[in-house]
Amino acid sequence: MPALRLLGLLAGLLATSAAGAAPLVDIVGGRRAQPQQFPFLASIQNQGKHFCMGSLLHPRFILTAASCFRSRNSGIATVVLGAYDLRRRERTRQTFSIRGVSENGYDPQQNLNDMLLLQLDREANLTSSVALVPLPSQDAMVEAGTNCQVAGWGSQRPRGRLSRFPRVLNVTVTPSSQCRPNNVCTGVLTRRGGICQGDGGTPLVCNGLAHGVASFSRGPCARGPDFFTPVALFRGWIDSVLNNPLDQHRPDNRPPAEPVGGL
Ligand SMILES: *[C@@H]1O[C@H](CO)[C@@H](O)[C@H](O)[C@H]1NC(C)=O
Ligand SMILES: *[C@@H]1O[C@H](CO)[C@@H](O)[C@H](O)[C@H]1NC(C)=O
Repeated sequence: MPALRLLGLLAGLLATSAAGAAPLVDIVGGRRAQPQQFPFLASIQNQGKHFCMGSLLHPRFILTAASCFRSRNSGIATVVLGAYDLRRRERTRQTFSIRGVSENGYDPQQNLNDMLLLQLDREANLTSSVALVPLPSQDAMVEAGTNCQVAGWGSQRPRGRLSRFPRVLNVTVTPSSQCRPNNVCTGVLTRRGGICQGDGGTPLVCNGLAHGVASFSRGPCARGPDFFTPVALFRGWIDSVLNNPLDQHRPDNRPPAEPVGGL
């Protein structure tokens, strides 16, 4: 897979201007989310700089992409919940360090099984700005043609600045002929639109459930389908991690996973 564009790569320093007059294109092709519209979204940061997305699925666990930590140690990352305006210190925020990570057979060459669970150092308080996202049950995959939403602080064009506010985009699940086995793919039918740098790890929300984790897109942002890790194939594994917090976890039928980063 030569043309993979890993979305976990840091897009650049936090925006310094840009967000005045909003152009038509955003996340790419979306619009600004309302405050508290996606209270389960997490901004994963390194020294205060956003580099990836995650979602809160349990007061102590964040779902994100393993590719977010391919070139980064999870020990230095912080997880920010309850954020909206990345340029302000908001009172709604809760900030965490990462106590442990669990993966299940991530293959960086093929970018398969691109999913990571981050265990927070303490429990999040659930508020109007911080809430859990529900998951599909095991093997309950979304069907082609389903309308879903993605949101994130990712850039609005390739190599662009991060967005100051989360942007939201309506997307459609593609037929499997435009995807590959072991992913869920989405596209925007009528115009350009899709995830971009800084959106890696964000949940694909369909009918209120987090059905995917943003993994990669081919070529420049919003030029082809976006690829998500299918949460429904990992539900049993996710539950086993959530039910056994602390330390490392063995994946279902695979050899023990290597810990990601040096915790
Ligand atoms: C949750 O709320 C309690 C009580 O107000 C507070 O002590 C604690 O620090 C809060 N936790 C987080 C993660 O903000
Ligand atoms: C996006 O989808 C939601 C429901 O899924 C709908 O209410 C909304 O109007 C759509 N927005 C756009 C811009 O198409």
